[in-house]
Amino acid sequence: MTQLNGSRRVVLHTEGLTKEFNLGSVVVRALRGIDLDIYANEMVGIVGPSGSGKSTLLGLIGGLDRPTAGRIEIDGIDITYMSEGRLTEVRNEKIGFVFQFFNLIPTLTALENVALPIQFARYPKFDPEKRARELLELLGLGDRLHHRPMELSGGQQQRVAIARALANNPPLLLADEPTGNLDSEAAAVVIQALRDVWRETGTTVVLVTHDPALARKMDRQVTLVDGRIVG
Ligand SMILES: Nc1ncnc2c1ncn2[C@@H]1O[C@H](COP(=O)(O)OP(=O)(O)O)[C@@H](O)[C@H]1O
Ligand SMILES: [Mg+2]
Repeated sequence: MTQLNGSRRVVLHTEGLTKEFNLGSVVVRALRGIDLDIYANEMVGIVGPSGSGKSTLLGLIGGLDRPTAGRIEIDGIDITYMSEGRLTEVRNEKIGFVFQFFNLIPTLTALENVALPIQFARYPKFDPEKRARELLELLGLGDRLHHRPMELSGGQQQRVAIARALANNPPLLLADEPTGNLDSEAAAVVIQALRDVWRETGTTVVLVTHDPALARKMDRQVTLVDGRIVG
């Protein structure tokens, strides 16, 4: 199933990806035909002004929402018309998500938050606690394993969220404005941590941001305007 393009494996492929939202009498055309290929080990920034469709695109890629038209393949698997149950499995195995507001479970420790997706995996590839500990150490949080989210700074919480996203060693890590809620110092630490784990794990990173300076730190930039790729 794996697609090769030259020697590079395509981890994400979209074709004519279209998303419209029907709001009574008004139709919002959020994505107007996105053709995108992202290769293994790339670190891609998706940049564009607010409302250009970045989050909509990431949501479709991540199987959180369904397209109006077009096609999506993740690691050679067509997810476009997949059943909800199977999609949940693919998501758990193939995709890690990092959100702007961390979305950690407040009652669980850092270690427990990171271990959770492994415990939910249908065929777990790792010992949950051992893997969680290793990832948190890799992200510089070896001394914060038993802290709950409220006992951590924003930047630390986001690093826990990155560790959680990588728990099942997904080929694709998706991040939507991961530094949008952090001050510039914490943001720089988080981006450096992301680069470190990217290099260490070989996962492919797709990061959405409205901040051109952050997008420039990625290896490749895709610019969205008004639901279309413009560069
Ligand atoms: N659930 C929704 N219902 C209706 N319109 C939506 C919904 N989600 C996004 N949109 C619209 O789609 C467009 C793209 O939104 P979004 O993908 O969130 O942009 P970005 O992340 O680039 O700021 C915007 O015009 C937005 O208002
Ligand atoms: Mg957005």
